Amino acid sequence: MQLTSTISEQNFRKVRDWLYQRSGIFLNDTKRSLVCGRLQKRIKDLELTSFEDYIALLLHPKAQDEQQVAVNILTTNETYFFREDKHFSFLEQLIQQNRSSAQSGLFSVWSAASSTGQEAYSIAMTLAAQYSGYQNWTVVGTDINTSVINTAKNAIYPIEACRKIPQQLLKNYCQRGKGKDEGWFKIRPELSQRVSFEQLNLMNPTGFKYKFDVIFLRNVLIYFELPDKQKVVNNVLQYLKPGGHLLVGHSESIHGYDARLQQIKPSCYRFNL
Ligand SMILES: C[S@@+](CC[C@H](N)C(=O)[O-])C[C@H]1O[C@@H](n2cnc3c(N)ncnc32)[C@H](O)[C@@H]1O
Repeated sequence: MQLTSTISEQNFRKVRDWLYQRSGIFLNDTKRSLVCGRLQKRIKDLELTSFEDYIALLLHPKAQDEQQVAVNILTTNETYFFREDKHFSFLEQLIQQNRSSAQSGLFSVWSAASSTGQEAYSIAMTLAAQYSGYQNWTVVGTDINTSVINTAKNAIYPIEACRKIPQQLLKNYCQRGKGKDEGWFKIRPELSQRVSFEQLNLMNPTGFKYKFDVIFLRNVLIYFELPDKQKVVNNVLQYLKPGGHLLVGHSESIHGYDARLQQIKPSCYRFNL
């Protein structure tokens, strides 16, 4: 039997409600054809013939593995190195201030929707350059999508992805593939070893035993409805040091979400306690 080329409104709502419960991501009606296209491929791979069969499989309480696959398929993971580069200049300034302050300890940064890792490695390159090495700082990347986390851990990217990395950082922290690895580059192990990645759902973040100096929460709030945006901001603030900084995407405003957040530049907030 041929799989239909559109998803019915009823089936779209079932997927939308399931994804919302699971991740907080809200797919509005404009996302219907996107959902249809992404699920069709999976349905074919599983040799199923209808959206109904797939949804029955997805909603089965024991289908945890398929549920994770569906999250991986339905999240949008666009990212690139040194995206919104003003944030990296801001990070440099913060480190310079931190280095000269009396209480400077381990400087820690969380890339809270890290996708395939380009954001976390851009942060790590900035820190390594400022600290002249691999000591005194740490970077953690997290995402709800396990497939992007695996890509991030591999630290290997197509050569075109390096275009926005500043020349000196590219030279110091990246290595061009040769022979069978032609067309790819990897993050040098000295740097990638300082960056860890794990799965984490921002609707329910747990597990950190310490707080961060800076949290990058960029280009993820756009997927949530207002009360959930506020919830996510509140969730991540639990892990921000007093006096630490929260950075959001330039198209995302969190103005008025929390009285303790003081905007100091567009999309950069200081956490005052
Ligand atoms: C567009 S990417 C942004 C990547 C990067 N922060 C940047 O600005 O380039 C959004 C990421 O948010 C992740 N995401 C969506 N909902 C999430 C949730 N509830 N918890 C954790 N990550 C989530 C997606 O899997 C995706 O990788």
